[in-house]
Amino acid sequence: MQSGNRRGILISFEGIDGAGKSTLARRVSFALSSLGFPVLLTQEPAGTFIGRELDTLLKNNHGSIGPCAEYLTFAAARAEHFEKLVIPALTEGKIILSDRMGDSSIAYQGYGRGLDIAFIEMVNNFVMRGTIPNLTVYLSLDVETAQQRITSRSQQASGFDRERKDMILKIKQGFDAIMDKKETSLILDGRQELDELSSITVQKIIDCYHANPTSDPTRSPTTY
Ligand code: TYD
Repeated sequence: MQSGNRRGILISFEGIDGAGKSTLARRVSFALSSLGFPVLLTQEPAGTFIGRELDTLLKNNHGSIGPCAEYLTFAAARAEHFEKLVIPALTEGKIILSDRMGDSSIAYQGYGRGLDIAFIEMVNNFVMRGTIPNLTVYLSLDVETAQQRITSRSQQASGFDRERKDMILKIKQGFDAIMDKKETSLILDGRQELDELSSITVQKIIDCYHANPTSDPTRSPTTY
């Protein structure tokens, strides 16, 4: 399928760890590509070379990094992601599927770690150049089921401590609040079958793509 002079659309996938968003994003990417749509499947923070380096740094800090520095590291990865991948792909008319984006920072660093949400929104807006995803696919899943999935996937010892559970609960409540407010969210029940989740999401994305033939998802692009 030709994108012609059509402007691309941006779709983000969000949810707590273990909700299944990466699996869903991959399945949706495969389905849309098979139908001939021009798709770019990417992720944050690890969507670019710099992003992968920052991801390694974040994963190796053993929880010692403060919430502000942690957020600004994710924001740096996001800035690079937008500059190198997202903005060019939008210009090329692609359907960009991003496994996590700005809402993850609001949920994890804002609701989870208590960083000022207005500050996160302001910096997100700057690094994303005012771009708002056309659609945010939110996989909602309860904390216990998500943890069971992570445990069986990684064959870790089951269960997790109270402190960690409370933190994930805050993040989940944060996601719920963000997605309830958002007009462009597609809220899905993470316990549904993958095939079903995929077909609902694919249809919604195709509708989005056709509804905005020359859509411009950037509000007022930031001038540097
Ligand atoms: P995740 O998508 O789970 O990647 P991986 O497949 O490498 O595990 O993201 C990694 C973690 O980073 C996850 O726990 C969520 C967290 N995160 C934030 O805390 N803030 C952010 O802005 C982003 C993008 C991710």
